[in-house]
Amino acid sequence: MSAAIPSGAAPQVIHLADYQPWPCLLDRVELTFRLAPKATRVLARLHLRPNPAANPGQDLRLDGEGLRLIALSLDGRALDITPDAHGLTLPAALLPNRPFTLETEVEIVPEGNTALEGLYMSNGMYCTQCEAEGFRKITFYPDRPDVMARFHVRIEGDLPVLLSNGNPVGQGPGWAEWDDPWPKPAYLFALVAGDLRAHRDAFTTASGRPVALNIWVRPGDEDRCAWGMESLKRSMLWDEQVYGREYDLDVFNIVAVDDFNMGAMENKGLNIFNSKCVLATPETMTDDEFARIESIVAHEYFHNWTGNRITCRDWFQLCLKEGLTVFRDQQFSGDLRGEAVKRIEDVLMLRARQFREDQGPLAHAVRPDSFVEINNFYTATIYEKGAEVIRMLRLLVGDADYAKALDLYFNRHDGQAATIEDWLKVFEDATGRDLSQFSRWYFEAGTPRVTVSEDWAEGTYTLTLSQDNPATPGQPDKGAKLIPVAVGLLNPNGDEVVPTTVLELSQPVQSFRFEGLAARPVASILRGFSAPVVLDHPLDRTGRALLLAHDTDPFNRWEAARSLAKQVLAEMVTTGAGVSADWLSGIAALAQDAGLDPAYCALALRLPSEDDMAATLAAAGHVPDPAAIHAARRRMGQALAETLDPVLPKLRAEMATPGPFSAEAGPAGRRALANACLALLTRLDGGAAAQAGFKAAGNMTDRLAALVALLENGHGAAELADFEAEWHEDRLVMDKWFSVQVAYAAPEALVATVNRLTARPDFTMENPNRFRAVMGALSAHHAGFHHADGAGYALLADWLIRLDGKNPQTAARMSTAFETWRRYDPARQALIRAQLARIAASPRLSRDLGEMVGRMLG
Ligand code: TRP
Ligand code: ZN
Repeated sequence: MSAAIPSGAAPQVIHLADYQPWPCLLDRVELTFRLAPKATRVLARLHLRPNPAANPGQDLRLDGEGLRLIALSLDGRALDITPDAHGLTLPAALLPNRPFTLETEVEIVPEGNTALEGLYMSNGMYCTQCEAEGFRKITFYPDRPDVMARFHVRIEGDLPVLLSNGNPVGQGPGWAEWDDPWPKPAYLFALVAGDLRAHRDAFTTASGRPVALNIWVRPGDEDRCAWGMESLKRSMLWDEQVYGREYDLDVFNIVAVDDFNMGAMENKGLNIFNSKCVLATPETMTDDEFARIESIVAHEYFHNWTGNRITCRDWFQLCLKEGLTVFRDQQFSGDLRGEAVKRIEDVLMLRARQFREDQGPLAHAVRPDSFVEINNFYTATIYEKGAEVIRMLRLLVGDADYAKALDLYFNRHDGQAATIEDWLKVFEDATGRDLSQFSRWYFEAGTPRVTVSEDWAEGTYTLTLSQDNPATPGQPDKGAKLIPVAVGLLNPNGDEVVPTTVLELSQPVQSFRFEGLAARPVASILRGFSAPVVLDHPLDRTGRALLLAHDTDPFNRWEAARSLAKQVLAEMVTTGAGVSADWLSGIAALAQDAGLDPAYCALALRLPSEDDMAATLAAAGHVPDPAAIHAARRRMGQALAETLDPVLPKLRAEMATPGPFSAEAGPAGRRALANACLALLTRLDGGAAAQAGFKAAGNMTDRLAALVALLENGHGAAELADFEAEWHEDRLVMDKWFSVQVAYAAPEALVATVNRLTARPDFTMENPNRFRAVMGALSAHHAGFHHADGAGYALLADWLIRLDGKNPQTAARMSTAFETWRRYDPARQALIRAQLARIAASPRLSRDLGEMVGRMLG
């Protein structure tokens, strides 16, 4: 009966079309854990009954991997069934046609688990990560999100703190019991055991339920929890006020863990966080990290409704919870920190990560229909584009109907495992709109390109928009999408003559007329980035400068500066042109505009990234030359510094934030602008201001900004040594120390820098944060990673092969460094292909990394 899987067999592809309900319903499960690092026993009792919605006569499949089966019985009678490599099958003939109980006992080895999936150990503490398919490494179970059960958990172990999901229902010396009243899929299960300390607080919900809040940390980290706790309370209040969603248990626990594959995990009532994403003090974390912590705490909390109370039927529906929860956390951060700045940051990230993914061999739909390894689909497309699709939906139906639809969603699907079809139906029913064309955003990959042409005659302005939906792997032909294009019109003197109007582009080519205008207007198109598309708007420099100076839409005003910068930089790279005076004067004016949010000015001063420029040039039919892009971008920064030189010290001084440190958006924005000024100053003053700034800094934001400014200009050796002396015992802070040396290495010194750092005893690939600090910075260093000698490619491939043996999930994620290979010249393409082929041929290649390199090679 056991089906041995021959090694080297082609990995199985899972198809959405093959979905079948599980043959049983699982009302309740009782778990007992007897913890021991080398041999943990897990006893599971599953209370099952036939599922009337399933096809009759099916065998019952339980998933299970790496488990030593000790005992198996059905209604108390032992069964003699040998598991295969991926689980065990109970033949249909054995299954009673009434409720029955299945009991198993297995043994697992948490100490040996380096994949950080299932039950593992981190610094002497037990913890779990079950999403997406980690529960099968804990016990035999239907490890699929549509099987929802109520869990009762007993933990036995000699550690002081024993946590699981739900409410605590009993404890004594060496044991604790937890009961979760809300049915949930196995991926939301969690267990933590350790010598932990709590940072405690409390929250009372709108309907009066008292909730105990705890952030659990290792002894010594208690003073790093205040910001995470504040963020949690704000999130709880916001979800009540904006979505009408209350918390539904007596306790909400967060645990900080040092070794974690991703940012954080929304386990019911027991969120587990990468310590980097929750622990902060002003001395150890930067403003950007404070903001990120706030948004991740919110994200995981918001999952309680969008993900946990309503979960996904199968993993193809991942965007149902992730896209919606990202959209909600973006709204939350926008409300707290300013909508315009948040929108710009989100779009920068969307373009850097999702557009990049969409334009390469890993492109996939927001709702894909096949996969090999689901861990490979926690992508920018599922998360960030998934959020963009919901943002468009809200824009199309309006805020009031969006609220109506969400209420209907929560009422109709609470307690269910739902699909994207269910989600769209809710909007159709709440608004009466037909969303069949809109649904293509979910089912078709690729970034649409919208091209603008304009016509002006006798007071009538005609805007013609055409859309092109590029082919992506497996999807050669696509129909027109419904694209909301927010447009406003400005007079040549800068006055707005037509306020924001949302045009619905539904045809391949479509014209929109605006009548009764006195003069030919300048159009501000795609305001607020109303759709995740590439906009091709051939606007002359005067038009762009007009928008940069006068657009009433803050996003598009920033975008005017950005697109001008990219146009200028592209010309510098391809024709050797100089830095344009228009751009310099436009940016100088923006930077000094006292009426603007300093955070916004800081964003305007940020140059386009080298990777972004490579993508832009490739899209325009050029072969990007990484060294030329790097050199041109440096010249651009230098010219900007020289232009702003007379005002930099004053502007920086005006942005000083006296008084005690606050991580709120206001002071953080002032520090961002002050430090943008410092970065420019350091190009001119030989490092004097940054050296002084480094010494005087009272917080990590200013300290790291000074260090980076120095490193960018070839200084900073003494400061690096000081930093190390001060922080060498702090893992999270030292990650920054590792990372900046790689990120700001000279391109030709990159490989040597990485080799020097990885030879240190405090470099370890067992800790994903440390590995990412170095290898993530290596692959993000555009000019160095893509150095023509190919040494960066080989170095990353070496490390991915090594890491794959321990932690396939993180190795696979980091392999996306190679996804852009088709952009480059034939020599670089050949070098990258050779490394991908070498990874593909490595012995014991994981399914995770194997799928990624296979897709990238095409
Ligand atoms: N669901 C988590 C989130 O978005 C993501 C996550 C955390 C995850 N850890 C993981 C996904 C491990 C896959 C594997 O908040
Ligand atoms: Zn999430």
